[in-house]
Amino acid sequence: MKNQVILITGASSGIGKAAAELFMKKGYHVYGTSRKAEISDKHTYSDAQSGGFIDMIPLDVTSDDSVKNAIDVVLFKEGHIDVLVSNAGMGIAGSIEDTTMDEAKKQFEVNFFGSLRVIKAILPVMRKQGFGKIIALSSVAGVISIPYQAHYSSSKFALESIMEALRYEVSPFNIKVCLVEPGDTKTEFTSNRIYSENANQNSPYFESFKKSIARMERDEQNGVSPEKVAKTIYKMAVRKNPPVRTTVGFQYKLILFLKKILPAKVLEIAVRMLYT
Ligand SMILES: NC(=O)c1ccc[n+]([C@@H]2O[C@H](COP(=O)([O-])OP(=O)(O)OC[C@H]3O[C@@H](n4cnc5c(N)ncnc54)[C@H](OP(=O)(O)O)[C@@H]3O)[C@@H](O)[C@H]2O)c1
Repeated sequence: MKNQVILITGASSGIGKAAAELFMKKGYHVYGTSRKAEISDKHTYSDAQSGGFIDMIPLDVTSDDSVKNAIDVVLFKEGHIDVLVSNAGMGIAGSIEDTTMDEAKKQFEVNFFGSLRVIKAILPVMRKQGFGKIIALSSVAGVISIPYQAHYSSSKFALESIMEALRYEVSPFNIKVCLVEPGDTKTEFTSNRIYSENANQNSPYFESFKKSIARMERDEQNGVSPEKVAKTIYKMAVRKNPPVRTTVGFQYKLILFLKKILPAKVLEIAVRMLYT
């Protein structure tokens, strides 16, 4: 599996960064993206032992031109792309009533349309080369919706849906598609979370919102390491036929299994107790 080419969006921190480092150690040519990166002739990081490297390149998933330029850079240097990890994402918190339409759209613009934009740009490349794998970072919140991060959850639910359909469409072209669903993970996601501008003392939801967000943030910061999620991403990258979705960690696998078998009311009581 040496010297495979992988593009990882959002590799400046958290899960994307940990994945970039792991793939480099496994000998991959890693193109990691960040809105803040600048093109350079030198590798950003390299691993003499494996022959792998990370080149950080600029990419904003909300811009068509930026996505096209990033893919062109990789193709110019490598001529092909084996794996895309569509990882870039962020969270906007607030009650549904408080969150403005612009905020809701911004959430989707990054997590859903941003992933879609990168995937759509890479599909013709993978189709023409006759192989490729697309791994998208969803979330346990892409299967179970929780209060005050409804738009984040919806953006991941939508991503789950499109990836499920994409698997059927591109399998004749030897393109594999799968989702990785982390639960709480200790990354910069928590500090990067944006609060809806109306989620303030004037909101009738404020007390419940505050309690719920404090719980989420505590759970994230006590969550698993991004390296653990990176290992799951790596497993899916090397697996010939990865399953449509892989949840990270036994605890979350169990929760999603219980969601399938228990009456919806039971799950609702549990979420209500934890988050309201
Ligand atoms: N942490 C968790 O508990 C958790 C749980 C489940 C799922 N996830 C998912 O895992 C993925 C990675 O999150 P993380 O926890 O590693 O968060 P993070 O540490 O905040 O990293 C987010 C990455 O996304 C990039 N990004 C944000 N907005 C972008 C944009 N418009 N265009 C391009 N890149 C953008 C950031 O890069 P720049 O700012 O440098 O551009 C950064 O590298 C996300 O999809 C998230 O939803 C996280």
